[in-house]
Amino acid sequence: MEFVKIFDTTLRDGEQVPGCKLNVQTKLKIAAQLDELGVDVLEAGFPISSPGDFKSVTEISKLIKNSVVCALSRAVAKDIEVAAEALKHAKRPRIHTGIGTSDNHIKYKFNATREQILERAIKAVSYAKTFVEDVEFYAEDAGRTDNDFLAEICEKVIAVGATVLNIPDTTGYCLPEEYGAKIKYLKENIKNIDKAILSCHCHNDLGLATANSIAGVQNGARQIECTMNGIGERAGNTSLEEVVMILRQHPYLRLDTRINSKMLYQTSRLVSNEMGMPVQPNKAIVGMNAFAHSSGIHQDGVIKKRDTYEIINPKDVGVTDSAIVLTARSGRAALAFRAKKIGYEFDKLELDRVYDQFLIWADRKKEIKDEDIPAIVRESIVLIKN
Ligand code: KIV
Ligand code: ZN
Repeated sequence: MEFVKIFDTTLRDGEQVPGCKLNVQTKLKIAAQLDELGVDVLEAGFPISSPGDFKSVTEISKLIKNSVVCALSRAVAKDIEVAAEALKHAKRPRIHTGIGTSDNHIKYKFNATREQILERAIKAVSYAKTFVEDVEFYAEDAGRTDNDFLAEICEKVIAVGATVLNIPDTTGYCLPEEYGAKIKYLKENIKNIDKAILSCHCHNDLGLATANSIAGVQNGARQIECTMNGIGERAGNTSLEEVVMILRQHPYLRLDTRINSKMLYQTSRLVSNEMGMPVQPNKAIVGMNAFAHSSGIHQDGVIKKRDTYEIINPKDVGVTDSAIVLTARSGRAALAFRAKKIGYEFDKLELDRVYDQFLIWADRKKEIKDEDIPAIVRESIVLIKN
């Protein structure tokens, strides 16, 4: 089994969600939780961007015991100096520096040439290296960058000390096969690749961030950059909980992470509550309905044997149990199961009667709760007596 590093960017890329800015205290609370969850790298912020972000990175650096603490910078000397200053108390500091490498970014953002971008990248990594040993280089918009140029820039920044190469699909445009092929190409064509690891950083504009990250690690990347609940700018980033559970549920891939998956649900709630960003009910792994069954056929199967309709044991992600939700689509098995939990047992005839009454209620109400069951049973008994 090989381990894929989890680089959590909830507090940097994730926090770029409009309206979700966090204060220092909240960031510290989330950082402590992520450290305990077992993330390998915790991107704490972009120190040059604001005094608040500088303070957050400084305080997180003092607090965190296990994870590498990382700070973002552009390929600009002042950014790198400020990132290094904010990281000075970190036990394991990393500077994350980089520049746009696609022709689109080179021409329209920088009005520059490939040669000039190459030079700036080398200079930035060399300068970051004077402050910390661990330097990650990002090739922004790598998803749309020419593979030969990408390999060349990666090779040159490794030569001056980059330890990690971040290959972002910044615009979330790549297809999984294309992103996987890009990682494979880099793995095969960067001569000094044995001195660094490749990292996936995928955005979710087409809903492919998770699939692309998995394609990346299947093709040789050994770090995934992701956020809790997949939050982030526009359609968000790769979901941490999704990549962790995909690798865990598919052991034949022989790739795993060091995340304590039993803490996923509580971490998801914490981030959602603190950011005021609700999690969609059908969100994989951590959504309210991720382990809820409401149709009769599925409920009957799950009651007989959980894995008829569940591929993950809810306890493995910190959810207490699967839920059997009573609606007008539920069958007798689900009703009997839920009624038994609150002390009712019926023979076949009684169950038929109670079920008829249940359906009348269920057509009126969206969902039948435990507290409705006694009234339904009482009404059924009255009907039987009459
Ligand atoms: O999406 C991206 O390209 C980024 C970089 C700044 C790492 O977030
Ligand atoms: Zn990003």
